[in-house]
Amino acid sequence: MSDSAPAREAWGSRIGLILAMAGNAVGLGNFLRFPRQAVENGGGTFMIPYFIAFLLVGIPLMWIEWGVGRHGGLRGHGSMPGMLESLWKHPVAKYLGVLGLFMPVVVLIYYCYIESWTLAWTWASMRGATQGLDQQGMQAFFKSYVDLDNGTVHGFWTPFAFFFITIAVNFYVVSKGITAGIERLAKIGMPILFVFAAILVVRVLTLGTHEVMIDGVLTQSSPLDGLNFMFTPDWQALANPKVWLAATGQIFFTLSVGMGSLQAYASYLTKKDDLALSGIATAATNEAAEVVLGGSLAIPAIVAFFGVAGATAIAKGGSFDLGFIAMPLVFNQLPGGATMATIACMMWFGLLFVAGITSSVAMATPALSFVEENFGWTRKKTATFLGGIALLIGILHLVYYTQGFLDEWDYWAGTFGLVILALVETVVFVWIFGPDNMWREIHEGATIRIPRFFKFIMTFVTPVFLLVMMIWWTIQEAVPTLLMENIPEADHTIRWVSRGIMLAILVFQIFLIKAAWRRRALDGKEVA
Ligand code: TRP
Ligand code: TRP
Repeated sequence: MSDSAPAREAWGSRIGLILAMAGNAVGLGNFLRFPRQAVENGGGTFMIPYFIAFLLVGIPLMWIEWGVGRHGGLRGHGSMPGMLESLWKHPVAKYLGVLGLFMPVVVLIYYCYIESWTLAWTWASMRGATQGLDQQGMQAFFKSYVDLDNGTVHGFWTPFAFFFITIAVNFYVVSKGITAGIERLAKIGMPILFVFAAILVVRVLTLGTHEVMIDGVLTQSSPLDGLNFMFTPDWQALANPKVWLAATGQIFFTLSVGMGSLQAYASYLTKKDDLALSGIATAATNEAAEVVLGGSLAIPAIVAFFGVAGATAIAKGGSFDLGFIAMPLVFNQLPGGATMATIACMMWFGLLFVAGITSSVAMATPALSFVEENFGWTRKKTATFLGGIALLIGILHLVYYTQGFLDEWDYWAGTFGLVILALVETVVFVWIFGPDNMWREIHEGATIRIPRFFKFIMTFVTPVFLLVMMIWWTIQEAVPTLLMENIPEADHTIRWVSRGIMLAILVFQIFLIKAAWRRRALDGKEVA
């Protein structure tokens, strides 16, 4: 059995690797999805299940995925089908790995669409297009952008142009490869992201007190009220299943676990690379960016100008109302007038764009490696091909956004599916491959020793937690969502089309795996 596959690319430096991994995890989820989820689930109420989920599934999965990824990478596999097979020699293993191709591709497509908004809004900020708009004006600006039939503010082709640019930049970066593309982007992007975020946090937290109307009463509200709301724990929440699901879902999404993408990045590690410390460093960086920066931006800013009740109402409208409508409104009211508003807006949307692109290139990586490695295509050809597909399919999101096309993809591939893949890989890596092998694999080249109780957590607590979550999720949400209980009748057809296309992608990828393995068998290549 060949244990050494042909040489693969490797990360250029440890700092580059950590920045790329942090870039993978830090994304729109940290700055848009987190504040929305936290506020909607009661602020401090949300934070306890959130931290428990971080400890019991977030951190363990980080190590598991880095371990699975490097183990596969050393045997020539950059994506989940091969990775699972190298851990578990069973014919079904590679097919289970399809989830690690399917979800990143599906999420990539809609994520790039949202990312293209951040680019559009950065450009609009530079032109001062959102300046002086009031709430109705800001809403009209947003609605016209996401609805192609609504040409009141934006031309028909504007969203297409920004989407095209976003896809082109993403696939240009990945076509350059790991060190010259992804690692380079992270080295430039991540410092910019942290600097912009830090400046905005300081500006927001020094906003002072404002008078806001709450229930017809003029009340004083300050950014600190937002922080209090976020960080005053409420232990009763532990009994609320809905908050648990939301908190666990956020931990998954924000850490990028359960997707196949961290594994793809980890496949470019060598035997000598540390994984224990780097994994935890990445998780910690993401949590700092989420709880400290993400938590100190949108929430206190919006609370200062709208009060806690106002912020909660905005959060109910979704992450996008919060980021694309409420935040520019806040910036328009900053002391310093038009100049200040322009600068703050540019930083906010610029920050979102950078956070987005360092994540979307990570979503492109598994499918890219899969095609490259199994069908012998060059990276450039693969990137062009995949970029073309993403562009074509992405157009459906532009056209049908307002009818919930994107929500279907976000639910099945961006929320529910993550738990399934996480459960599969945990069972394969920890139970089938074996707890001792797993533990050894993670400590290969490690510069720290992980406390032993984590072995216990990873062997027993994590899988049970995942299983319970999956069952709970299925009953509480997945079944009602599948039956479209809260969806207006008029949108059902589009939503079925949306599901149908996802299913087609899944089936197509299963066939690709089949074809790839047949090709290997013909080549007489040993599947390690
Ligand atoms: N973690 C990213 C964010 O917070 C989103 C994400 C989810 C992701 N899964 C991923 C990014 C897989 C890259 C790869 O926005
Ligand atoms: N369902 C998400 C929410 O509103 C929306 C969403 C999908 C999202 N993808 C995202 C938010 C990426 C932020 C980033 O919470």
